[in-house]
Amino acid sequence: MTKQNIYILGIESSCDDTAASVIYNGKILSNVVANQKIHQEYGGVVPELASRAHQQNIVPVVHQALQKANIKKEQLNAIAFTRGPGLMGSLLVGTSFAKSLAYGLNIPLIDVNHMQAHILAHFIDEEGFDKPEFPFLAMTISGGHTQIVKVSSYFNMDVIGETIDDAVGEAFDKSGKILGLNYPAGPEIDKLAQLGNPKAFQFTKPKVEGLNFSFSGLKTAILYFIQREIKANPNFIKENLNDICASIQYTIIEILIDKLKLASKQTGIKQIAIGGGVSANSGIRQALKDGEQKYGWKSYIPKFEFTTDNAAMIAIVGYLKYLDKDFAEQDVTASARLKI
Ligand code: KG4
Ligand code: ZN
Repeated sequence: MTKQNIYILGIESSCDDTAASVIYNGKILSNVVANQKIHQEYGGVVPELASRAHQQNIVPVVHQALQKANIKKEQLNAIAFTRGPGLMGSLLVGTSFAKSLAYGLNIPLIDVNHMQAHILAHFIDEEGFDKPEFPFLAMTISGGHTQIVKVSSYFNMDVIGETIDDAVGEAFDKSGKILGLNYPAGPEIDKLAQLGNPKAFQFTKPKVEGLNFSFSGLKTAILYFIQREIKANPNFIKENLNDICASIQYTIIEILIDKLKLASKQTGIKQIAIGGGVSANSGIRQALKDGEQKYGWKSYIPKFEFTTDNAAMIAIVGYLKYLDKDFAEQDVTASARLKI
């Protein structure tokens, strides 16, 4: 069989990042992301502002992705886009744009589930990065989701555990807000934690049955703890910031790893992958690596640029679906609560 030359454009606009990427036979040629700084002032994503910024960014971002890949839009074989889950107004921008472009170029349109994409990002061809073997467990940890997924094949996935309240990214971001850090606070807590003592302060871990998670109690515990300490010493946060961040991060990672251990025990699967924005965290990356020695896991940690929201992960799913000829119709609609 002659090898086909397939170019797919991936478009991601589910939350507050406008992103586009071109993939050629499984290899990324470009991966462009425009972050929306505007939300920092508000301490969280403002949906109305997000969709407006997507409107402004999408044409230049797609243009740049094609330019960096050094191809013309006429060379594209298909357009893949994030159908959901995410913010409706944000999803609509990417969906409408993808539909129009596919229609104009008369090429197939491919709808992609954002959470599947965080998992399938592991199948991008990258030197030095192994691809997981089926079945494997994927823990998707982001600003909107916290799930453990049993992945039996590319498109056969079962959610076997998930959060019953906040997502783990929210636990980072809301803790950061209490500490007066900018949104999103995850990356900053990670940085500050590296110079702190993770055992300096103890926070009780939630007791949740089975493979589900809960993070809202931790946020409240941190709030009360800080309020109490500030009463005794108004400079408490400033004087202990590294230790506080290290302790919060340590607790969150313990919660995640405990559930992964249980999931691995219950399913007998030792191939463990992580994905989503929080998988950029240096502590969770180290904990997963340590799991290879401690629990006999084979761990898959994504390349840094494929952790937070990006379009390369949308493009790889587009490529896999293209090979299956699994295309969307022009009347496909965005779906804010799309399930895996
Ligand atoms: O996957 P993502 O980019 O967007 C969603 O789909 O939600 O994830 C964003 C989340 C934010 O909550 C952010 O604080 C968190 O990922 N995050 C981190 C780190 N980098 C991003 N959390 C902890 N440590 C990091 N290094
Ligand atoms: Zn995401």
